[in-house]
Amino acid sequence: MMWLLVLTAALMLTFILTGRRRSKREPPLDKGLIPWLGHALEFGKDASKFINRMKQKHGNIFTVRAAGRYVTLLLDPHSYDAVINDSKSLDFSRYAQVLMERIFDLQLPHNLPDKAKEMMKRHFLGVNLSTLNSTMSRHLQAVLKAETPQNQRDWKEEGLFDLCYRLLFKAGYMSLFGGEKNNNSTDPSSVYEEYKKFDGLLTKMARGTLKAEEKKESKSLQGRLWELLAQAGLTEDCGSSPWLHTYRRLLEDDGVNEETQRKAVLMQLWATQGNVGPAAFWLLSYLLTNPEALKAVQKEFGQMTQTAFRTLSTDRPVSTPVFDSALEETMRLTAAPFITREVVQDKILCMADGQEYLLRKGDRLCLFPFISPQMDPEIYHEPQKFKYDRFLNEDGSVKKDFYKGGKKLKYYTMPWGAGTNGCVGKSFAISTIRQFVYMLLTNYSLELCDPNAQLPEINASRYGFGMLQPEGDLPVRYRQKNTH
Ligand code: HEM
Repeated sequence: MMWLLVLTAALMLTFILTGRRRSKREPPLDKGLIPWLGHALEFGKDASKFINRMKQKHGNIFTVRAAGRYVTLLLDPHSYDAVINDSKSLDFSRYAQVLMERIFDLQLPHNLPDKAKEMMKRHFLGVNLSTLNSTMSRHLQAVLKAETPQNQRDWKEEGLFDLCYRLLFKAGYMSLFGGEKNNNSTDPSSVYEEYKKFDGLLTKMARGTLKAEEKKESKSLQGRLWELLAQAGLTEDCGSSPWLHTYRRLLEDDGVNEETQRKAVLMQLWATQGNVGPAAFWLLSYLLTNPEALKAVQKEFGQMTQTAFRTLSTDRPVSTPVFDSALEETMRLTAAPFITREVVQDKILCMADGQEYLLRKGDRLCLFPFISPQMDPEIYHEPQKFKYDRFLNEDGSVKKDFYKGGKKLKYYTMPWGAGTNGCVGKSFAISTIRQFVYMLLTNYSLELCDPNAQLPEINASRYGFGMLQPEGDLPVRYRQKNTH
């Protein structure tokens, strides 16, 4: 009994001595009741619910303890620029490195990620983007055709999430990692099977909360994927895109060994394929469960001439304001990335309302635009509802004016991040989703198996990791339209 009392006293003493106190200049501090762990469990289970609870308690800025770290959450979109524009005190790459190590077991030379990003920008813009879009269009048509029953009278039934993720992954994989010239060992279907299981463990890997069995499984999945990707981008004629080949050469020139190169290629596979399928799924789900929205998008597609459709797969501006608004609305509801920075030197954060807060070196700072602006009732009327024309003015032009506290917002949605660390693949992703949805709605009949079906719930463990994913699926059936 005595030893238990001594242990408890020792623990309490350590807690009191090492516990952090809030200084007056710092944001409200909420350490939670459990020493060291703090709020980690609640945070990991459903970050959106947890952050909303803290917002009710503390307001637009507060610091929480989670697994020994102190994380400041900033939820005022008028103040986001103070974070996005300060790369000196608030560093992007350190936390990105932590994730790279935890998820991909990958360490890259210090300035390689920056060089790789600059190179990637060149490959996903302008004339290169145009070539990529045409390649993607070709692969999308091929995978759709291959998956559809030959007999046009036969329906095929499956979950819409599975359908979107698989088809877009396969077409994306063939376009970037290995086209038709590849041998069977890198058949896109086998890569997808392993990738999907890996993706299922991703949030736990990122948080370091894998159970022993899951750790074993993640290691073996990683191993199989490294093998499958071994040849991707290695030589110019291996069927991969010029981007991947240049990426491999960049790694090679920086002295990165073969094993690490494979790990880096797996990371790129996730960065390029992890969000497009889920985004297309949510968009189609909202359209299928909102007949008025579906009709409006179909009407817009129907009015496009054949020439206009051909430009869908190029980088020439194509005008699809109704589709664009429906996609923006979908992403407002289902894109939930954290924008995380490490505080590398003490910083005074000046909020838009004039308040100033001291951020401590060594802490993390996190924006969570999903809560505000995206789901903020002060900005969007009935924010939980899908309104396909929310981003259209009455005259049909693009709506960009949204307000909070009477002041116009610079950031009214942020599915792609922002500033220098915003998404490099945004144009490619939008064009891919547009082509995919166009093909499905124009050349195929696609309908809900149960006309009264509701959207599946959100998998709450994925808040903070880009596009959300559903818990379960939405059963649909599809077949090729009779074109005669
Ligand atoms: C719907 C699809 C996509 C969504 C919602 C999305 C979202 C995002 C977000 C939110 C970030 C910023 C992360 C941060 O600030 O920490 C990001 C970064 C990035 N995205 Fe995407 N993305 C998508 C598709 C793509 C595609 C197709 C590619 C490549 C072809 C791509 C390449 C990248 C890269 C390389 C970065 C890192 C930028 C950096 O290092 O600063 N993304 N993306």
